[in-house]
Amino acid sequence: MGLRARLLKATQSSATTDDELSIDNQEIMEEIINFSMDEEEPVQNSEYLSDHEKKYREEILKKLFEAVDMSRIGKLDKEEAKTQIKQLVESIIKDNDFPLSMDSRLKMTQFIEDEILGLGPLEFLMRDPQISEIMVNGASHIFIEKSGKLQLSNVVFDNDAHAMRIIDRIVSRVGRRIDESSPMADARLEDGSRVNVIIPPLALDGPVITIRRFPADPLTLNIMVEKNALSIGMATFLKAVVKIGKNILISGGTGSGKTTALNALSAFIPEDERIVTIEDAAELQLQQEHLVRLETRPPNIEGNGEISQRELVKNALRMRPDRIIVGEVRGAETMDMLQAMNTGHDGSLTTTHANTPRDALARIENLVAMGGFELPIKAVRAQIASAIHYVVQVQRLEDGSRRMTSIAEINGMEGEIITMSELFLFERRGIDQNNKIKGVFKPTGAMPACIDALKRRGIELDVDFFDPDNEVEV
Ligand SMILES: Nc1ncnc2c1ncn2[C@@H]1O[C@H](COP(=O)(O)OP(=O)(O)OP(=O)(O)O)[C@@H](O)[C@H]1O
Ligand SMILES: [Mg+2]
Repeated sequence: MGLRARLLKATQSSATTDDELSIDNQEIMEEIINFSMDEEEPVQNSEYLSDHEKKYREEILKKLFEAVDMSRIGKLDKEEAKTQIKQLVESIIKDNDFPLSMDSRLKMTQFIEDEILGLGPLEFLMRDPQISEIMVNGASHIFIEKSGKLQLSNVVFDNDAHAMRIIDRIVSRVGRRIDESSPMADARLEDGSRVNVIIPPLALDGPVITIRRFPADPLTLNIMVEKNALSIGMATFLKAVVKIGKNILISGGTGSGKTTALNALSAFIPEDERIVTIEDAAELQLQQEHLVRLETRPPNIEGNGEISQRELVKNALRMRPDRIIVGEVRGAETMDMLQAMNTGHDGSLTTTHANTPRDALARIENLVAMGGFELPIKAVRAQIASAIHYVVQVQRLEDGSRRMTSIAEINGMEGEIITMSELFLFERRGIDQNNKIKGVFKPTGAMPACIDALKRRGIELDVDFFDPDNEVEV
């Protein structure tokens, strides 16, 4: 069965019997449908090697390996190594009379350099700034996310062994090893991109690499407004609440833009406050000077030495932080983070994986329970209700765009229930001729409780921002 057929089958079988799809299923379905629509036509990029060029690349590489000790070149300074590779490739082409145009020769040098010094064929994709994600599903299926859309690229590895060579290069650069006994690893590339690698026997169809790239210039809140990810009213409100130290939880699905939103919001933390960031794999790019960045440590090969986010949050509390930022709460650190928020570390920011603000609170509750804290549910909810002030929901829509779809304020408790009121929302209004989702960012009319606190701090927000007639069409 072809990939498209398999995906369509998966789509059908994920429907529930009563025709209603749960939010989770809906999101998965949308991804699958997008994926199956785009997957059939690999993106043709004429700059990639033609079959003719591929053949000669093999020949040149073979001769190169015969002629020189590649490990020696790998040890040279990068510029020196490049010069040597260029000279060697040129002399091989000349000595063997390979019929290659000037253009092909230049490409050949570049591709061979990628092979010896870089990430092999992935390097070609890395050069395209529009590509935000690279996903290798076994040697011959390399998908990309370009301008928000998933596509099959026309780039392949020669075989699994080739992919494994590049994987070794990626993980060894960060001092890790990957083999059958430890078949998963996280790493970071030189440009800051986040990489996850998982290989057989855990990955059933060959080595899998997932590279999350970040724009060289991180998205700011203003650029996000320009790109219609949120309205100016929402942005102004968020800037103000970050500034005065409200605790904010950003919620969203995988790849929905949580980290990007966290990064953009943290820009409004005043310069004179001490910030401690805690992440599993450091991605945040805060610009403030008074910043301490902490990163967890995975266990070593013997399974020892792990330092978890929880330990780092506890340590951070002893570092006189004004603000604690946890990249994503996903474990036992959640309770510590809530306690920190409740005990004077106002203005803390974090993200969590959920599809609505309400789900985000449920997720936090579950994380606390999973952390082994045996507190009555009401007590946990009371902690959450007083710790978190705002939940910001981000979403990756099926047209590939990222939108801030809700900003909700936590009001408090009513009985055992946390009450919250939505201040802003994104309402869908259809699809345009380019299949782009149309809609409006809309204030609900609810006024935030912090209006007075803002005034006291000299921030006067225009009440029009909260007027439901003040829709912004996108
Ligand atoms: N508002 C936006 N406009 C355009 N691109 C965006 C926007 N927000 C995020 N992106 C891009 O989407 C990709 C995913 O973003 P990000 O890493 O912030 O998501 P995430 O929710 O943190 O993902 P994960 O669940 O994997 O941690 C990145 O390439 C990022 O540059
Ligand atoms: Mg993230």
